[in-house]
Amino acid sequence: MLERLARQTVRDLDPYEWEASSEVVAARHGLDPRDVIRFDLNTSPFPPAAWDRAMEAARLERIPNEYFDTAYAELSSLIAPYCGVGEDQLVIGAGADEILDVLTKTFLDNGDAAVISVPTYSMYAICARQLGATVRAVPLGAEFALDVDAVLAAAEGAKLIFVCNPNSPTGNPADPAAINRLIAAAPCMVAIDEAYAEFHGWSAIPLVAAHPNLIIVRTMSKGFGLAGMRLGWGVAQPEVAAMMNRVRPPNSVSVVTARVAAAALRDLAGMRAHVAAIVAEREPFAAALRGAGAHVYPSVTNFLLTRWPDPATAQAVYSWLEGRGLVVRNFARHPLIPGHLRITVRSAEENARFLATLAARPVAVGTV
Ligand SMILES: Cc1ncc(COP(=O)(O)O)c(C=O)c1O
Repeated sequence: MLERLARQTVRDLDPYEWEASSEVVAARHGLDPRDVIRFDLNTSPFPPAAWDRAMEAARLERIPNEYFDTAYAELSSLIAPYCGVGEDQLVIGAGADEILDVLTKTFLDNGDAAVISVPTYSMYAICARQLGATVRAVPLGAEFALDVDAVLAAAEGAKLIFVCNPNSPTGNPADPAAINRLIAAAPCMVAIDEAYAEFHGWSAIPLVAAHPNLIIVRTMSKGFGLAGMRLGWGVAQPEVAAMMNRVRPPNSVSVVTARVAAAALRDLAGMRAHVAAIVAEREPFAAALRGAGAHVYPSVTNFLLTRWPDPATAQAVYSWLEGRGLVVRNFARHPLIPGHLRITVRSAEENARFLATLAARPVAVGTV
């Protein structure tokens, strides 16, 4: 029956893939789930300082039985000045993933084309394909640079270009001049996913004023340390935001999320201190990983893409770490970046545990 009733695009879809959950990893290796550390999801080890206070305030409000303000007015009033835009330029939702879903639903019909640069975050292709759109995948250039000419050539007749900046899983930023040229020359909408902007310290949001084809996607899952709360937003010109707001579900942000996110947005200094602590860890962590035999690519994010001598070694390193409760993103058999692992930069203590565990891996002479 499913064969007959489920949509063809869904039956054909390669869904999003995660590493095993902390519970599964713990059960597999006889560990306590609380001792499993996620080095695979590029999340922050630091919840916002206002977390406890905001949760308590939300509890005292005692309004779980009522729908929350579907305009998200309090959040809008805080996000708009944070981004330097008007409130009418925002589309707020449950994480960047919902904004990606909303923007593909706004612009892509069955048979339309979207352009991505690969390797990149897999949700762009998944969102597009769910709608029956085709995905034109353009390889990133040398050192994972955005190939603007190739993207523009592929964008002929397409409706949407996705750019992940800084890119995941590679960790590098696009050259601002390349971004400018792409937006100006694109014959269609350009969505720039800036999930890691707090670490990078650069954003294309100032370009929105001049470009009606530009949409920026942001999240509180990374720099703000609120992945579990689910809060993200899009920034575009008011007409574009209004079009996207037609599509967004009215109530996907919970009252608890909204209260906690608002408290975090009122403490930007706290967020910046957490980001600075992670950024300060990045180079020493990268240097230690190089010492352990990995090639580590430059990163402006809170994660490091690492290359191991071959896929078997990458898989062995992955398994060794997983067996000790340290989960990294496994690209050992990835078609474009075989032999790679992506590793989140976490707190000094967690990174130290990671490095000590890695150093304890028995290695045969002549290999790493
Ligand atoms: C590039 C990129 N965009 C979006 C997301 C999803 O973010 P959110 O938790 O806000 O849905 C991620 C999560 O890892 C990501 O890496």
